[in-house]
Amino acid sequence: MVLIAPSLLSADFASLQKQIALVEEGGADWLHLDVMDGHFVQNITFGPPLVKAIRRCTKLTLDVHLMIEEPDRYLESFVQAGADTLTVHYEACPHLHGTIQHIHRLGAKAGVCINPATPVSLLADIISDVDLVLVMSVNPGFGAQSFIPSAVRKVRQAASLIRDSNPFTHLEVDGGIDHETAGVVVEAGADVLVSGSYVFGSGDIPGAVRSLRSSAKGSEAQP
Ligand code: DX5
Ligand code: ZN
Repeated sequence: MVLIAPSLLSADFASLQKQIALVEEGGADWLHLDVMDGHFVQNITFGPPLVKAIRRCTKLTLDVHLMIEEPDRYLESFVQAGADTLTVHYEACPHLHGTIQHIHRLGAKAGVCINPATPVSLLADIISDVDLVLVMSVNPGFGAQSFIPSAVRKVRQAASLIRDSNPFTHLEVDGGIDHETAGVVVEAGADVLVSGSYVFGSGDIPGAVRSLRSSAKGSEAQP
């Protein structure tokens, strides 16, 4: 089954609780939380205190995407705040295996993310240790960018690596996902769809979540 993970980056931060209730009404599975530090990416967003506040508003899985340098320094605070999954960037982790072990020791699920210019093949020796692979289909830092078409090939490659090495790993795609690109990446093998501006920029937030679900359903491989 494909999971829908609305990204709160494009939500109205003045009424987060209501916005979360609307994606729940639409049947969202996870909430995707984008943490940016102004160093690894240009933008700055939020840290553990907001994750903690969101944790009090919802039972949805909190899928925290860490676009930060030296993520090891903050892992414990995010887990204490209520994060379920912590995803770190391949490009930000010189000791990736150790960072993934650290996340698991803290009791959370661990994900690894690759930027558009990072090849999938670099994940070969970490894939069996992670719960989630996140393929960026835009350059990280901002919402509402255009989907980069070469991400589709990377999703196919990642799906094949996952099938061969660790079939329980989720394959998530992030950036430029709407009702059209959702079907394309699901057909390529993705099973978690992150979507920010398409969901929160629409006049009908629950309807946008449902439309992602129906695009995904139409493209899922039949058993
Ligand atoms: C971008 C973030 C995304 C962002 C996606 O760096 O990682 O999660 O919210 O936004 P859209 O869906 O608008 O491309
Ligand atoms: Zn993200």
